[in-house]
Amino acid sequence: MAGPVVALAGASGDLGFRIARALVDRRAEVRALIRPDVSAAERAKLEGVGLTLAEADPRNRDAMAAECAGASCVVSALNGLREVMIDRQSVLLEAAVQAGVPRFISSDFAADFTKTEPGRNRNFDLRRDFMASADKARIKVTSILNGAFLDMLGAEMPIVQPRIHRVIYWHDADQLLDFTTKNDVAAYTARAALDETTPRILRIAGDSVSARNIAAILSEISGEHYRPFWAGGLGSLGVMIRIARLVAPQPTAAFPPWQGMQYMRDQFSGRARLSPLDNDRYPGMRWTTTREHLSHLFQTSGEPI
Ligand SMILES: NC(=O)c1ccc[n+]([C@@H]2O[C@H](COP(=O)([O-])OP(=O)(O)OC[C@H]3O[C@@H](n4cnc5c(N)ncnc54)[C@H](OP(=O)(O)O)[C@@H]3O)[C@@H](O)[C@H]2O)c1
Repeated sequence: MAGPVVALAGASGDLGFRIARALVDRRAEVRALIRPDVSAAERAKLEGVGLTLAEADPRNRDAMAAECAGASCVVSALNGLREVMIDRQSVLLEAAVQAGVPRFISSDFAADFTKTEPGRNRNFDLRRDFMASADKARIKVTSILNGAFLDMLGAEMPIVQPRIHRVIYWHDADQLLDFTTKNDVAAYTARAALDETTPRILRIAGDSVSARNIAAILSEISGEHYRPFWAGGLGSLGVMIRIARLVAPQPTAAFPPWQGMQYMRDQFSGRARLSPLDNDRYPGMRWTTTREHLSHLFQTSGEPI
């Protein structure tokens, strides 16, 4: 018997593709909502993992609604700025409502922006704006909040500095930061997509560690002494953000340096921490720890990280 149908926007993306595979693993029928101009290679990749392709112009609500019809949930794994997170995602939400789909999971996948101050993090503001309009729609909407992707630690998230054996922090070396791997977020999202009883917000954290904890883990893994390194207070980080926005505004970039600094400010202030956690909602979930992630990085790079 065919499993429940989940319509997925952003299946070609990093997180979206992982969610798609996790849904297929759970025997869902995944309908990837793709743009008409998607390449043959991309189509083959999506079909290769068992997805059904549903082609529609993402600006056309009627066309999108036709492709969402019959789904038990629409999942958005879109990424971008206002034209994607508000404009394109709103068409998707309206299409889901029009098609009579009962549930929608929005592309939030962030730290807890419901607890941070508006106007201090551009990407959080976009999610907050979408959340406010989604709450008025005639559909049950769920946001999954997961902190930072653990995969970025030691990679895109530059707080680990291997050359000087330091872990950079602002404000407090003992402030806990929430992390979850992309694969764990995807596995949890697949479970949530198939769960008719999800609440408005689900909060998860695969691990919560401070800069001091990260330095200790790195010291053990590498056999070299890592120490936390104070980069300043939250006020000085705020000044750096203002300067970076003046010098290199990059208004059309999804992730300019100042955006990364805004995330750091929210994480190190403790305001965006996730609590209470819904980690135990689905039995059998196994959460990747920071130690496992950093050990894997160390083993695969063959260098001290
Ligand atoms: N918590 C964290 O640390 C963290 C880190 C990274 C990302 N995230 C979140 O995870 C979610 C997915 O992110 P991702 O990195 O997987 O996304 P991604 O791969 O960059 O993009 C996902 C999809 O968004 C659409 N998209 C991207 N850029 C677009 C543009 N300029 N115009 C129109 N559509 C665009 C595309 O869909 P089509 O192919 O259908 O056009 C793309 O496949 C987002 O909510 C993101 O903020 C969280």
